[in-house]
Amino acid sequence: VYTDIFEHPLPIPAVAQPIATYTNSTTGNVIDYYEMTIEKFALQTYPASQGFQATNYVGYNGTAPGPTFRMTKGREAVVRFINLNDRPSVIHLHGSFSRAPFDGWAEDTLPPNTHKDYYYPNRQNARTLWYHDHAIGITAVNAYFGQAGFYILDDPEEDARLGLPQGEYDIPLMLAGKQFLPSGQLLSPEEERVSLYGDVMTVNAQPWPFLQVEPRKYRFRLLDASVSRTFKLYMVASSNPKQRITFSVIGSDSGLVSSTANTTSLVIAMAERWDIVVDFAPFVGQNITIMNERDFQTNPDYAASDRIMQFRVGTTVTSQANNNLPSTLRTLPLPEPKAEIDHEFTFERKHGMWLINGVGFEDIPNRILAKPERGNTEQWTLENKSGGWSHPIHVHLVDFQIVSRSSGRVENYERVALKDVVYLEENEKVNVIARYAPWDGVYMFHCHNLVHEDHDMMAAFNVTDLLS
Ligand code: C2O
Ligand code: CU
Repeated sequence: VYTDIFEHPLPIPAVAQPIATYTNSTTGNVIDYYEMTIEKFALQTYPASQGFQATNYVGYNGTAPGPTFRMTKGREAVVRFINLNDRPSVIHLHGSFSRAPFDGWAEDTLPPNTHKDYYYPNRQNARTLWYHDHAIGITAVNAYFGQAGFYILDDPEEDARLGLPQGEYDIPLMLAGKQFLPSGQLLSPEEERVSLYGDVMTVNAQPWPFLQVEPRKYRFRLLDASVSRTFKLYMVASSNPKQRITFSVIGSDSGLVSSTANTTSLVIAMAERWDIVVDFAPFVGQNITIMNERDFQTNPDYAASDRIMQFRVGTTVTSQANNNLPSTLRTLPLPEPKAEIDHEFTFERKHGMWLINGVGFEDIPNRILAKPERGNTEQWTLENKSGGWSHPIHVHLVDFQIVSRSSGRVENYERVALKDVVYLEENEKVNVIARYAPWDGVYMFHCHNLVHEDHDMMAAFNVTDLLS
């Protein structure tokens, strides 16, 4: 099936290396220091021999995706981002409970030829995070042209206890729908006011790649870094393209799920992360293709938008270590259940703008829409009232639990997960509950369709400490 389109190997981003390591003599805390530039570069995606230009990007250390941070829980990090590009940038570490000054507030821009040191506590449970641009009004352009990378927080205790696939058997996959011009350049989302879905399916910036794998278990960290596209993924083997393969969801935005959720399909919206384990042992010598469901909600279909990438399963296994898939993974720190709704937010389109409760981020006097007291649990109702559009809603700082969906469609993998993005389908109402902690401060929440976010579906909440 479809071997023709999968021509080039999957690129795997380099791992970021710290420049220095410090120990705080008072606390004993270890801090790794990194430097990361934001700079222009070009990638020859389509053959120069056929007259295609190398594609222009702007990325971290001149790569896309950016280098992958591999962090160990308990070791803090400072990353100096140096903007060598000619436009402003802001860096957000998505999935981290960073202190507000280091959370990538959209107006806290890094002008050209300046730098900022971001401090990351790395004290949460292990999870797949990603760092990406968050600059006011131009997040779509910046992230789409390359300012996005993985940041993986590992927990050695968890790794040793569970024996899940690690090292070369643990691979990040950044999915994104892109659109190229006949010149070989990317079509910019800059003038877009609605959505940019893309007709070219890329993984780690490579259109339709393949990956050679061994017949054993692998962990894949899936991230949808698209501007606007949501995927509904499934997998088939070359021997039986009609039969969908069962795979296992082991992690979500907020780290491991409580128990392994087996599935034959997976919905992944913008900014969502799902970690899966695929066992290639039964498929020696076959090709396994990750497919994308056609006719899935408002996502437009193109000739090859129904397929993403391919695994070519070899015949030998080099290491059987960490080839486990336990059914129980961890006890989720669930927020205390509560019945009351603290806030209701509607997401809708008005006068050509995308708004939350009628407010956009530019509406400075009105854009703080909630003031949770620090440490309190709040239940929010998120309601999609914009008709034929869906919105992946991201709340900074917290991990939340999906309590209910008005569509009734809570997937088995959502039931066992904590999340920081929830996908609101057309006309859907979703309740989420979270504990607003550990820090006080003003944080953003917004639609992660980056065109909507830029125009202007973003607001803020202020986590407050009561004065004593
Ligand atoms: Cu992934 Cu507010 O961002
Ligand atoms: Cu949206």
